Amino acid sequence: MAIPNVNAAELQTYKLTTAQKDAVDQIKSLVGPRGYVSKTEEMEPHLVDWRGVYKGNAELVCYPINTREVSDIVKICSAAVMPIVPQGGNTSMCGGSVPLKNSASIILNFSRMNQIRCFDKNNYTMTVEAGCVLQKLQQTASDADRYFPLSLAAEGSCMIGGNLATNAGGTNVLRYGNARELVLGLEVVLPDGQILSGLNALRKDNTGYDLKNLFLGSEGTLGIITAAVLKLFPKPRGIYAAYCAVSSISAAIELLDRARKESGDCVETFELISRLVMDLVLKHIPNCQDPLEERYDHYVLLELVSTAENDQELYNRFERILEGGMEDGLILDAALAQSEVQRQAFWSLRENATESQKLEGASIKHDIAVPVSAIPSFYEAAWQAILEVEPKARLIAFGHAGDGNLHFNVAEPANGKTQDFIDNWGRINTAVHRTVQIFGGSISAEHGIGQLKRDELTHYKPAVALDLMQKIKSAIDPNSIMNPGKVI
Ligand code: FAD
Ligand code: MLT
Ligand code: ZN
Repeated sequence: MAIPNVNAAELQTYKLTTAQKDAVDQIKSLVGPRGYVSKTEEMEPHLVDWRGVYKGNAELVCYPINTREVSDIVKICSAAVMPIVPQGGNTSMCGGSVPLKNSASIILNFSRMNQIRCFDKNNYTMTVEAGCVLQKLQQTASDADRYFPLSLAAEGSCMIGGNLATNAGGTNVLRYGNARELVLGLEVVLPDGQILSGLNALRKDNTGYDLKNLFLGSEGTLGIITAAVLKLFPKPRGIYAAYCAVSSISAAIELLDRARKESGDCVETFELISRLVMDLVLKHIPNCQDPLEERYDHYVLLELVSTAENDQELYNRFERILEGGMEDGLILDAALAQSEVQRQAFWSLRENATESQKLEGASIKHDIAVPVSAIPSFYEAAWQAILEVEPKARLIAFGHAGDGNLHFNVAEPANGKTQDFIDNWGRINTAVHRTVQIFGGSISAEHGIGQLKRDELTHYKPAVALDLMQKIKSAIDPNSIMNPGKVI
């Protein structure tokens, strides 16, 4: 298991083959001086992951400008058996976007491939390049009176290619599905450099195997996503948000059911936030405030959304859901956003959960999914299992309860030794993941596998499925040059 703060002195204990050395020179002359960096200090931000847990080596970081250039680079790498690591915003939570240590590689960073190739308002689609930053796409859609619903706390820096390669989730999956469900067409450069052109903008296309779905969620191990046709939706106009203290996790799940039924299934967001998350955000992030006067153990950020302006009927339902929840003891207290500024203040508490954890110290992350109905029992059982390993552990549980996806993270004890805590990493993982298995869940709901969970996956994925994955990998990438050491 990788541990934070790897020692840079351990790196670069490998040799390039002659073919790989030639490939590096060929790529440099192909992309020109503006298309790559190779000095260690310039490459550094691309070599270390967002959490500072993984650090790898690369010969070059290339910034291709178009699909043809990607294809040409990949052809050179293919001939020299040079590993390629595709990289978007480098916000991966599982070490997927940085190279392995002690092995040769080229990073392909997509920040220069950031064009919107086509915006078809009436077809509710946009065709975009891999390096478009997610927030820019949300804004482009909004400016044209449309909505692109993928939303996550890293949206200011993550790129759509990375979102699709990880099949990202985020806060709107309950209503719109994962990234995978937001894609109609895909353009991919295969490991031999061929371009698979599948940029169709069709909602119906049953012409054989659904090839795009092989690449979505494959974390750069099968090919390079260079562009995609994304689905758009009508823009939300009435957004009603409440920050609710709930009496228990079971109460939260009961509230979700009522909110879905009684709103006409207009729940867009249902995020669970534990008190410790609130405490860490209030401690580390400036200008955040607790919206409620008392302290409670668990909170839910609930949003109902309508595409109709000033949807009074939905607002009335929203109030009735909250009143009913309070009368029946599901909700202990609630604050309703009276303005967009207040709504953003609620979101600030939720969206800074990850950043504040990082500022607090070491944490062991679990990105799990169980059936929504199993969340309360899972929560209790997994917490007990963690306490058996580390009685002073602090639970940072939060996330997308509406999808059955919790970030069941564990922070180091307040006055403990970081190294003792990290030494328990594997045992804490096992405690949580075995509980996930008992409840029929997944050990990676939305972040993917990367380097972090590659070994762990072998314990939880059926052997037949792993074998099939390996066969697909070997068929598409026989020399294993695409993001080696990740996923399988
Ligand atoms: P990178 O991190 O650069 O890459 C991720 C993976 O995709 C790597 O394996 C990489 O090799 C591959 N890849 C990148 N681009 C391409 C490409 N063009 N072709 C093929 N492969 C490619 N994730 C969620 O799902 N939901 C969340 O709510 C969420 N919240 C987050 C909050 C914070 C604060 C942070 C830091 C991360 C969060 N994440 C979340 C994780 C991360 O943001 C997502 O996985 C995101 O989709 C990664 O996008 P990226 O552009 O940063 O990709
Ligand atoms: C989020 O939902 O904010 C991230 O996916 C969570 C994490 O930090 O584990
Ligand atoms: Zn998440």
